[in-house]
Amino acid sequence: MTTFKRDIAAVVAPATGLTLEAVESAITLPQHEGQGDFSFPCFPLAKSLRKAPAAIAAELAKTLQPPPGFTKIEALNGYLNFFVDKPDFARRVLSEIARSEAAYGDNGLGTGKRTVIDFSSPNMGKELAFHHLRGTMIGNSLSKVYRKCGYEVVRVNHLGDWGTSYGKLIVMFLREGLGEADLSGLTLEKLNALYRSFDAASKQDPGLEDEARRVFAQLESGDGWFRRLWSVFRDVTLDELKRLYSILGVGFDIYMGEAFFADRVDDVVGLLQARNLLKESQGAVVVDLSAFDMPPALIRKSDGSTLYITRDIAAALYRHTEYGFARCFYVVDNGQSLHFQQLFKVLELMGNEWHRQCEHIPFGLVLHKSEEGNWEKGKTRTGQASLLKDVLEAASEKILGIMAEKNPEVAGNSKLAMEIAVGALVFSELKNRRLNDIRFEWDQALSFEGDSGPYVQNAHVRLCSILRKAGLSPASLASMTLEGIRWELLKEASAVDLIDTLAQFPDKVAVSMESRDPCPLAQYALSIADGVHRFVHECRVLGSSKEKERLLLVAAARSVLGSALDLIGVPAIESM
Ligand code: ARG
Repeated sequence: MTTFKRDIAAVVAPATGLTLEAVESAITLPQHEGQGDFSFPCFPLAKSLRKAPAAIAAELAKTLQPPPGFTKIEALNGYLNFFVDKPDFARRVLSEIARSEAAYGDNGLGTGKRTVIDFSSPNMGKELAFHHLRGTMIGNSLSKVYRKCGYEVVRVNHLGDWGTSYGKLIVMFLREGLGEADLSGLTLEKLNALYRSFDAASKQDPGLEDEARRVFAQLESGDGWFRRLWSVFRDVTLDELKRLYSILGVGFDIYMGEAFFADRVDDVVGLLQARNLLKESQGAVVVDLSAFDMPPALIRKSDGSTLYITRDIAAALYRHTEYGFARCFYVVDNGQSLHFQQLFKVLELMGNEWHRQCEHIPFGLVLHKSEEGNWEKGKTRTGQASLLKDVLEAASEKILGIMAEKNPEVAGNSKLAMEIAVGALVFSELKNRRLNDIRFEWDQALSFEGDSGPYVQNAHVRLCSILRKAGLSPASLASMTLEGIRWELLKEASAVDLIDTLAQFPDKVAVSMESRDPCPLAQYALSIADGVHRFVHECRVLGSSKEKERLLLVAAARSVLGSALDLIGVPAIESM
């Protein structure tokens, strides 16, 4: 599609004195049948050429040669209408998809370059809340998109596993009289409960906060027993995290938490000192950022303990040395924007030119409806924001119910129900622009109608089922021969439209990469689904006189939709 626009621009621009971009962005799609496939409006030229638009169009139609892939150019009411050579278009697009298959849409923009993507990165001892899904799936999708663009991607989980909070867990664990014997049966749920009881207990006994700080200081200085507790807490957290990540189909190359960098903090302090960047402020050590309109970056507290940002400086230095990244992304909600501005500024002041390659990829909040009916940031503590595992569980339960009612063949298939649940939840997160806040609504997220994950998955299922009935596997495109295909038979509006949509995939991949947003790809999957549902509704495939041609289109659409779903992390299921 966009290549067509580019081709039109290449003939129109020199003849009118407009730039290629100006022509390309002015091109529209004609409203009525018989008016061609693309229109260029001549109205904006009337002033500079001092002629009526209709006359300009008529003259251009006479002098311009149709670009390759077009059959003719006609003038109508001040528009230049371009007619695509449909059989040729179908041949070009479908052979390209058949030839490249899973590699269709790949571009070499990142070849030889490395991108580090830090995403999900939750805090130890806490269960994943539903809102964690968003950053996890944005990061997952971006890592796939960047890989498709040729980048080597390193997926990092920067687990929050260091800081005074972990003193709290230990204090509470000991207070409840727990010991070595309780470690083997420990669950993340229990750790989460310890946090909550710490909050409640410290309201009664304010001395508890000090105790937690003391315990953490002992942990920092290497106390063996505390170290053992800490490491079991960490393992328990990771076990549950990995269980959920595997349900979501998300993986990491490394889990390297804040604790790993705690040991490197002295080096950071040394480097900052050498650059004369440190200042004392009320006993604490800071980097003054007032010249940049930012509050100071707190490097070391008055009690000597280090902070989140200090560990992030150490992590950035480590990543740069270790991976030599072209880009380092931090997929973290927009509530932490200031933190990342400070972090990148400090890296710059330290003389690291590569600070420009670091980028915060912020995203908006997931809002829940409160009992009073207001949309608010969900809070796990009040039970308003649900836990991710509970939402997944409830969603798949509900889907099992619908499946039992609608399709006896898949009734009781709980693995499939979970894949549909993941599809529904993930799609409803990613179909919105990254920075928009989103409102979570059960009915909408689990709907089989409209802009939903299951609607898109269903298009994939329909394609698979047509292929299956023809005795083919979903991945049969590779084995199909293009010889003897009568391209001129793919001429119905719904077929041409679907081919048009499939042609846009490479462009959507590049747009998603550039905007660092999976949303264009999610929207694109939706438009393929629309196109598929319409095509399948209007054009009978099996048993038709055009079966071979239509099957090829079905296999190509299956392949592109499968790739698009994979890029956004929605399971491409084959039955439902
Ligand atoms: N653990 C942090 C949180 O839950 C997010 C960490 C993001 N990554 C980073 N390098 N700061 O808020």
